Amino acid sequence: MKIGIIGTGYVGLTTALTFAKLGFKVYGNDKDKEKIEKLKNGICPIYEPGLDELLKEMLETNQIEFLEDIVQTIKLSDVIFICVGTPTNPDGSPDLSQVEEVSRIIAENLNGYKLIVEKSTVPVQTAQWIKRTIKLYSHRDIEFDVASNPEFLREGSALKDAFNPDRIVIGVESERAKEILLKLYEKINAPKIIVDINTAEIIKHASNAFLAMKISFINMVADLCEKTGADIKKVAEGMGYDKRIGREFLNAGIGYGGSCFPKDVRAFYYIGSSYGLDFSLLLAVENINNSRIDRIIEKLKKALWNLNNKKIAIWGLSFKPNTDDIREAPSIKVVNRLLKENATISAYDPKAMNNFKKLFPNIMYGNDKYEVLKNANALLILTEWDEFKNVDFGKMRELMRTPIIVDGRNIFECEEVRKYNFEYYPMGRSCIV
Ligand code: UGA
Repeated sequence: MKIGIIGTGYVGLTTALTFAKLGFKVYGNDKDKEKIEKLKNGICPIYEPGLDELLKEMLETNQIEFLEDIVQTIKLSDVIFICVGTPTNPDGSPDLSQVEEVSRIIAENLNGYKLIVEKSTVPVQTAQWIKRTIKLYSHRDIEFDVASNPEFLREGSALKDAFNPDRIVIGVESERAKEILLKLYEKINAPKIIVDINTAEIIKHASNAFLAMKISFINMVADLCEKTGADIKKVAEGMGYDKRIGREFLNAGIGYGGSCFPKDVRAFYYIGSSYGLDFSLLLAVENINNSRIDRIIEKLKKALWNLNNKKIAIWGLSFKPNTDDIREAPSIKVVNRLLKENATISAYDPKAMNNFKKLFPNIMYGNDKYEVLKNANALLILTEWDEFKNVDFGKMRELMRTPIIVDGRNIFECEEVRKYNFEYYPMGRSCIV
């Protein structure tokens, strides 16, 4: 079975390399010619642990080939995964024009039975639109199936998640499509949930919206903890022991970012509303998340009085650790707010600085975490990279002008920081010196 992957972003590239490693011949295609050129030469366009090495290995063994031509990709493949972007329109609805375009091109180039699988996160009923589009535009009476097989991998642990998923969701409407997808995932040991296509599409959107809701819920409680002197970490731990709740995704802080949660919460709200349903719960999720930025700025002001001409060192720019991705990263909003307040910024991130420099070429950047602390009035932690967790507090204290740490990710313990006479402002817990 030959597999075509259209769209080699995070999901597409990881999926392509996973299937290649599982022993299938894979053709990867993207409309970005520069990206295809890089991939052909074994250059991974994104930072993701293990991806670079796997790309080189699969190119060497010829398990994967990257093609500029989408038509060739379609013609050579038995199963085609649509992994193109589904960005947000200004009104919050998902923009499905790329999915439509790919469906049309598939229709015009069907040269035998194909299974067309949507992997991109799409609104319920999108597969029905893909099916209709293929029927409308295909010239000959060639059989095909459409399926939904949503992806649940997380950036920063994409390959690990792809090879060890919690579940594989297979949304199909024919036995033939089901058998093909089961064959593709035969070697992956995970529960395989076989459902109708609409159900599969909703499972994906509902999962992301639910996880975002968990984060906003704990952030809402974090605000109450701060007002009352309680400790959000311990509240989350106490709640998390309940198997029905679970400890994961109850980390309070600067809020969620990235290319998925903000977009998917908005899209799911839009989808519910478009059927006349009250999905306003998701508006609250979004509002709470947005207000995290106010909280962090308030904390800085509480510590520094006003921010004019104050030097703020920032640790962490990516939306989460182990990625260079800054899409919808809280750091972007925070830096914009700080610049408005006329603060001076010196930032450091292990992987995301090049991407950040494209947006903010005029702030200062450091070569390491200590360099940015020189003469800083405060340190602001925005991403919980491992290298920020083990630090030399004595050295930090010497470098900084005033000993203030505002921690948007709660990575330190109060007693530890207090030993070095830092004023420490975490999220949802109090640490008065
Ligand atoms: C998310 C989902 O977790 C994946 O299952 C899904 O496949 C993916 O979206 C997608 O739809 O493509 P991702 O956005 O890569 O994955 O990363 P997460 O680990 O989910 O983190 C998302 C954001 O939530 C990050 O900004 C993170 O810092 C924040 N977060 C996460 C918290 O603020 N608190 C938590 O407890 C957990």
